[in-house]
Amino acid sequence: MNNVFVTRPIPQNALDHLRREATVEVWPGPLPPPYEELRRRVATCDGLLCLLTDRVDATLIASAPKLRVISQMAVGYDNIDVAAATSRGIPVGHTPGVLTEATADLTWALILATARRVVEGMRFIDAGQWQTWDPLGLLGMELHGATLGILGLGRIGAAVARRAVGFGMRLLYTGPREKPDVAAGVGAIYTDVDTLLHESDVVSIHCPLTPATRHLINAHALARMKPGAILVNTARGGIVDHAALLDALRSGHLGGAGLDVTEPEPLPADHPLMGEDRVIITPHIGSATVRTRARMADMAVSNLLAGLRGDPLPHCVNPDVYTR
Ligand code: DGY
Repeated sequence: MNNVFVTRPIPQNALDHLRREATVEVWPGPLPPPYEELRRRVATCDGLLCLLTDRVDATLIASAPKLRVISQMAVGYDNIDVAAATSRGIPVGHTPGVLTEATADLTWALILATARRVVEGMRFIDAGQWQTWDPLGLLGMELHGATLGILGLGRIGAAVARRAVGFGMRLLYTGPREKPDVAAGVGAIYTDVDTLLHESDVVSIHCPLTPATRHLINAHALARMKPGAILVNTARGGIVDHAALLDALRSGHLGGAGLDVTEPEPLPADHPLMGEDRVIITPHIGSATVRTRARMADMAVSNLLAGLRGDPLPHCVNPDVYTR
């Protein structure tokens, strides 16, 4: 049987399925295996089932001579050196589609909670400050009629846009190319990044983290945003320059931020963003529903088993391994 390393406990059904087909070792801890430990375990493996918290770099791949497939239980794969895997002929799998709706829901939880100051309201009560209905207290942004700018109208961006229709919002989107069919379904208008930042009341990030998008939202971009606008990020922390975000919030230019992703994760407890009134931070839970995590694990196992059999992965990020 093939040897497989799974870098954390995953939903049971998927694990049981995998165990019927391969000899499986699961890293038992609640935290990811340290890098050197991961490298040591993968060195003798045929297959790796990893998570976005694992650094799967060229050195690790080079020290695993038997490795034939890498299967990530996530849609994003910026933690994996895909070029190094491709040059070894190793297919890399990921889990697109199944987490779209759950992540769009969480994005909306952050948009609503940030716009309507829900967490601040709870802190206000916890601090014993709720004395009366206050005509001027905790005033937030009204979403109906406001403009939502979507950075990246992929699967998740489009699902966020569909929900925005119900809120009566005007929609802008940007990305490397126009998506006329998707945009027409929700009435979204294609713009360049600059116009989107300048005209949106809420900017929601849905692009992958790549060298081109790292710190896409920097001081310059934040300065282009409307005074009082809200930034929401459920994609990858590295897309936003956190120091610049903090400045934009503290200067009063931005109205708030809802972040499900940060860099690093977790943010240190004493990180200044942690204590900011107008910032809501959740611990990267966009896909964290029972059903979605089960589907992600099933998909990751299907990819892994296909790779071990020598079949094309159903969801492969580097299909050029099959044509080289
Ligand atoms: C992903 O899949 O890339 C998400 O960030 C985690 O669910």
